[in-house]
Amino acid sequence: MIYLHHTIFLLIICAFSFGVEIEQLPSPRSLCGEGPHWDQATQSLYYIDIEGPEATILRYDYGENKTYGATVENVPLMTFVLPIENSIDEFLVGGQHTASVISWDGKSSKGEFVRNAFEVETDKYYDTNRFNDAKCDAAGRFYGGTQRKGSCGGPFTDVANASFYTFDHENGVKQLKQNVLISNGLTWVGDKFYYIDSCTHDIKEYDYNSVNGELSNERIIFTLRENGKVPEYIFDGMTSDVDGNLFIATYDDYKVMKINPKSGELLAEYKLPTGQVTSVAFGGPNLDILFVTTASRRTQQPEAGHLYKITGLETRGTSGVKVKL
Ligand SMILES: *[C@@H]1O[C@H](CO)[C@@H](O)[C@H](O)[C@H]1NC(C)=O
Ligand SMILES: *[C@@H]1O[C@H](CO)[C@@H](O)[C@H](O)[C@H]1NC(C)=O
Repeated sequence: MIYLHHTIFLLIICAFSFGVEIEQLPSPRSLCGEGPHWDQATQSLYYIDIEGPEATILRYDYGENKTYGATVENVPLMTFVLPIENSIDEFLVGGQHTASVISWDGKSSKGEFVRNAFEVETDKYYDTNRFNDAKCDAAGRFYGGTQRKGSCGGPFTDVANASFYTFDHENGVKQLKQNVLISNGLTWVGDKFYYIDSCTHDIKEYDYNSVNGELSNERIIFTLRENGKVPEYIFDGMTSDVDGNLFIATYDDYKVMKINPKSGELLAEYKLPTGQVTSVAFGGPNLDILFVTTASRRTQQPEAGHLYKITGLETRGTSGVKVKL
């Protein structure tokens, strides 16, 4: 009996002794920090403030431990940011319905609009929607979706007319999924793709064909619903580590969840000092730092809206993939 207790005690100690640390990084207070993307070449984390007084593209410089930000004339809304392949200062940013190329040196307070790249949902009946999260697969194909402006719940939960799209130079824009409310999440693990529509409170898995980029066999691998009831918080941005586990930001619930998509098991929860946790991305020289973006809508809390890093997770991820235009 004594030995058994001893073993359990040790297991508990181990679970808490990984040395996981959560630290706020020098960064401006974003209204809605989002879309973190680690760039190995510049050792920087790019992200955006979607809703600031003016939309801002941000760059946390790991070496300098400092965050730079810029607004871009004629780009009043930035919903995602993806560095462009074969370029050091050009980025694809999402607007409401348009993905545009902008240029920024990563330091000055102004970036420049270069050109429009592609559009979705241009019909005026889609004025209620805007672009949301986007990422690229290993081949540099764009995957990104739209969302109803606003949040989940209330009268609009039944009007799911946002969509999830892919874009590549050869085939243009293609709709992959319709009847979406808030397109989010998105990460790849081998031949699987994981996706979140925040308002359905679950994580979906697809078979991913790396040759043609197609997704098939949608299935739910994790749900926050209990007895048909949905929680007050939602799943937001998501990434994965080299072991194939998922890390998911939970908006309005102060935490990042770690889930094994094969078993559907919740492996760990990492508590942030602020509630509106929006997205996650691995980065740092060894790709073992989990960067976490947050928002500060509806709150005076001083911790809200800053960039965080979680270290000591004993795993690592992959860096962001640049978009091929
Ligand atoms: C980054 O800057 C913050 C705030 O000045 C400081 O607390 C922290 O120790 C710095 N981190 C590194 C790695 O220099
Ligand atoms: C999408 O839903 C909103 C909210 O009901 C509606 O106003 C809009 O017309 C819809 N758009 C389309 C294209 O169905």
